[in-house]
Amino acid sequence: MPNATEILQADLAGFATASAIWSAGGLVAFPTETVYGLGADARDDRAVARIFEAKGRPRFNPLIVHVETVDAARRYVTWSDAAEILASAFWPGPLTLVLPLRADAGLSPLVTAELPTLAIRVPEHPVARGLLSTFGGPVAAPSANPSGRISPTTAAHVLAGLSGRIEAVIEGGACAVGVESTIVGLAGEPCLLRPGGVPVEAIEAALGMPLARHVAGDPLVAPGQLQSHYAPGAPVRLNAQDRRAGELLLGFGAVDADMNLSPSGDLIEAAANLFGHLHALDARDAPIAVSPVPEVGLGRAINDRLRRAAAPRGA
Ligand code: TXA
Ligand code: MG
Repeated sequence: MPNATEILQADLAGFATASAIWSAGGLVAFPTETVYGLGADARDDRAVARIFEAKGRPRFNPLIVHVETVDAARRYVTWSDAAEILASAFWPGPLTLVLPLRADAGLSPLVTAELPTLAIRVPEHPVARGLLSTFGGPVAAPSANPSGRISPTTAAHVLAGLSGRIEAVIEGGACAVGVESTIVGLAGEPCLLRPGGVPVEAIEAALGMPLARHVAGDPLVAPGQLQSHYAPGAPVRLNAQDRRAGELLLGFGAVDADMNLSPSGDLIEAAANLFGHLHALDARDAPIAVSPVPEVGLGRAINDRLRRAAAPRGA
């Protein structure tokens, strides 16, 4: 275990240092357009095992592999027409595809938790792209937070949760999208495994068909979709029309709130602010009430994260 976590600049020297740490089996957190990821060489068993250790993540919960290009992705998964459509429409960008793992992929079996499928994505953030290009290999990266807690959208969030447990973090500012990638399963009938940064409506329009939805408890749902997640220390109450005594209000739209996801009711702005505002309210250690957020576009991803933040703990 490292003692101090180094803060690297998002420049060529920083990319070279990060890449050398990955080659030596270490962990480096880095910005993507969605949230910060905690990266390791996806081919290195010991390095991947250290991701689970650093996060306190259950081993049955597989990781997303990040690659620089669509061509690189094809080396690890069996490609399909639907994959081609979605990759050309949304990569690089906040979409993860779950496809059959190729027998010759050469990845650590810990990455997929021994599932026959692999979750893979091509991120859009210039720092993630620069890093992947410098490193030249597949990078396994879950969100860079302790398992079950609020996801990080700044390097400071990463350090607050994982300082001393990882070798380095790249300082890349705040993440523009602010919620994790949308995960689409393409190993069978196309299905939505997690709402995220690409609206479901846009994916269905590109595919020309609706995505199947799976409900919690269905074995096909992404194994990491545990009920309680993104949890602040204090309880969270959803669809609040008012603020009760002692509560902090996380608003949406024109309400008088302690913090507001988007005073103008813009869902893109609200997604970008979601985890940062939850981190800030969490630091004030009081129950959190949240205004209703419409269940359309990015609102689906926002509500998914809020429902998990509010779920009974220890689930
Ligand atoms: O935006 C993102 O996706 C961020 C950035 C860092 O890329 N990453 C992220 O990773 O959110 P993580 O580990 O927090 O969430 C990955 C989700 C988990 O729910 C996991 O169970 C699911 O993806 N997953 C991974 N491999 C899978 C597979 N083969 N089949 C189904 N779900 C899978
Ligand atoms: Mg996560």
